[in-house]
Amino acid sequence: MKILVTGGLGFIGTNFIRFWRKKYPQSTIINLDKITYAANPENLNDFSQGSKYQFIKEDIVNPDFTNRLPSLIDLIVHFAAESHVDRSINDPSLFVKTNVLGTYNLLNFAKNNGNIRFHHISTDEVFGSLPLNSSNQFSESTPYDPSSPYSASKAASDHLVRSFGKTFGLPTTITNCSNNYGPYQHPEKFIPRLITNLLENQKIPVYGQGLNFRDWLYVDDHCSAISAVINRGKIGDTYCIGGLYQSTKNIDLVKKIINLMGKDMSQIEYVADRPAHDNYSVDWSKIKNDLGWQPQETLDTGLKKTIEWYQTHQKWWQDSKKEAEKFYKNLAKQSKI
Ligand code: NAD
Ligand code: TYD
Repeated sequence: MKILVTGGLGFIGTNFIRFWRKKYPQSTIINLDKITYAANPENLNDFSQGSKYQFIKEDIVNPDFTNRLPSLIDLIVHFAAESHVDRSINDPSLFVKTNVLGTYNLLNFAKNNGNIRFHHISTDEVFGSLPLNSSNQFSESTPYDPSSPYSASKAASDHLVRSFGKTFGLPTTITNCSNNYGPYQHPEKFIPRLITNLLENQKIPVYGQGLNFRDWLYVDDHCSAISAVINRGKIGDTYCIGGLYQSTKNIDLVKKIINLMGKDMSQIEYVADRPAHDNYSVDWSKIKNDLGWQPQETLDTGLKKTIEWYQTHQKWWQDSKKEAEKFYKNLAKQSKI
């Protein structure tokens, strides 16, 4: 099998390629990535270019990107995206280009090359926000109601994927997943920012009062869910994916990480809230009932593995952390203007 993975040098894409290689060593993997700030070109340095792995540096926004792709691809798994809500508030335009136009270009490529099986990676953020303190959850039938330019651009990409299925018979599936955490996540995102700040004895910025909640999923569990949908999912269907610790308040997560790292609660610093700050929680009973998938990792075991990875990979994150903190400083300055 020849599989095209987009965004394979980012957080989830890297983990997915490692997962897929382990599960299907005979597969040929083509990894196409623009290498934005979110990618690390060293993530898959142990994969050598050859008949089983090929890296192509390309931008999916440029429609000519397909010229360098090999023929006879069996499956596309589409991760490439601009993925950070805070950046989408700062500059939405790139989100529209990559997430909407880039997805459209890739769908066109799939359609014009023999209707290639297309799996689209999406987010629970397309459903909008749950009320604070509610025990409601998103499911496959929840209407779309995105809040940020990021989630709006992902919602648009989901609609395009479905339209290519209905209109052109492209064999598509979509997964809408909750927040992931684990190795290789950029230190701009919440959990790596927490861990790396604590490792550097810096304060931990908590937006608002820390009462917003997320549904955290260890990245390997996401990879196994994607694999289940690719192998056994119903063409045209959507599957929601979430974790075991639904509706975890940010402040409770912060306290858990501080305890696991043996640090002090005085390192918490409450800062200005994010505009349109959402809450997410996912009902994943469809994928459990239909495909037999469920998460394996507990929040404690997943966080321990993640903390250990950041402790032992300081070289991996040190430069990108400096860039991330510069980004946050600029963001804070702009919001004061
Ligand atoms: P990431 O930001 O870590 O990685 C994105 C990757 O896409 C990077 O390697 C980047 O270089 C590449 N990319 C960006 N623009 C590109 C372009 N124009 N052309 C080619 N490559 C480009 O993101 P992630 O956290 O790994 O997320 C991957 C996917 O999963 C995204 O589609 C995201 O919406 C979705 N998702 C993420 C989460 C999460 O918690 N991280 C949860 C649910 C869904
Ligand atoms: P983030 O990792 O940006 O993911 P998303 O917004 O896509 O879910 O943020 C996760 C949560 O953590 C979100 O509620 C915002 C909050 N947060 C902070 O409180 N402090 C921070 O420094 C960051 C980056 C996020």
